[in-house]
Amino acid sequence: MENTDPDIASWNHKARDWHVQVGSEGDRNRQINSDPVLWRFAGEVKGLDVLDAGCGTGYLAIKLARKGANVQAVDFSLAMLEVARKNAADAKVSISFEVDSISELSTVETAAFDLIVSNYVLMDCADLDGAIAQFHRVLRPEGRAVAIFSHPCFDRAEIPEHPEGGPVFHWAESYFGERREESSWGHFTSPFVFYHRPLNRYWKCFHDHGFQVIGFDEPVAQPPYPPDMTPEQIHRTSTRPFSVAFHLVKAKDKSCA
Ligand SMILES: C[S@@+](CC[C@H](N)C(=O)[O-])C[C@H]1O[C@@H](n2cnc3c(N)ncnc32)[C@H](O)[C@@H]1O
Repeated sequence: MENTDPDIASWNHKARDWHVQVGSEGDRNRQINSDPVLWRFAGEVKGLDVLDAGCGTGYLAIKLARKGANVQAVDFSLAMLEVARKNAADAKVSISFEVDSISELSTVETAAFDLIVSNYVLMDCADLDGAIAQFHRVLRPEGRAVAIFSHPCFDRAEIPEHPEGGPVFHWAESYFGERREESSWGHFTSPFVFYHRPLNRYWKCFHDHGFQVIGFDEPVAQPPYPPDMTPEQIHRTSTRPFSVAFHLVKAKDKSCA
């Protein structure tokens, strides 16, 4: 049955294509731009209790489990989780997958995790404050969160006649506003829903919910680049910021965050 929440329905519709996009290794942006930063912030995960918040089809949860973490993974899209469960079974790793919204985490115990990873999810989440309050609740004292999400400062638009072709950086509306948007991308047959917010909104939200920012980055690929990349692709990936990466720690005293 079609989910009546339009955001969940949109992700349910994309589940199979999302697996085509990220596969078992992550797509190229993940592999050469953001995953290196994600693993640098996450550090040694062996033996840690880790929550993958918004796991999609599970490539990251499976990598975490292979590195020895005890992984629970949530996503509000049942169709995504069905693909993720099959991928984990194929990879022969044990992961607890639950249907849950990251802004509710009703399946997750309080103070149950050492680390949360949330990879390209916060810009898709309608209730940012709810999600960050829940992250704070489910982390142990001094637990950490690594949040990667699409860079909010550089809007993209399809301008076919532009010399670079394809999506280029272009502001159609105010950067400083907050709004729900939809945009098409690549091989996907339905638009992506996302929530634009300026960068300072994220930063203040982390602070207001009791986190200290202990690491921040704008992931960019370093040479040597994969041999099949064209000079145009290398130019784009080495000159455009696609994501931001935050490393957060649950502050001992909320007022000190
Ligand atoms: C861009 S995909 C990223 C998936 C995965 N983390 C990855 O890197 O491949 C965003 C995912 O977040 C999920 N999502 C969006 N909002 C959510 C929410 N409020 N609660 C739980 N999952 C959410 C979507 O269903 C989708 O699977």
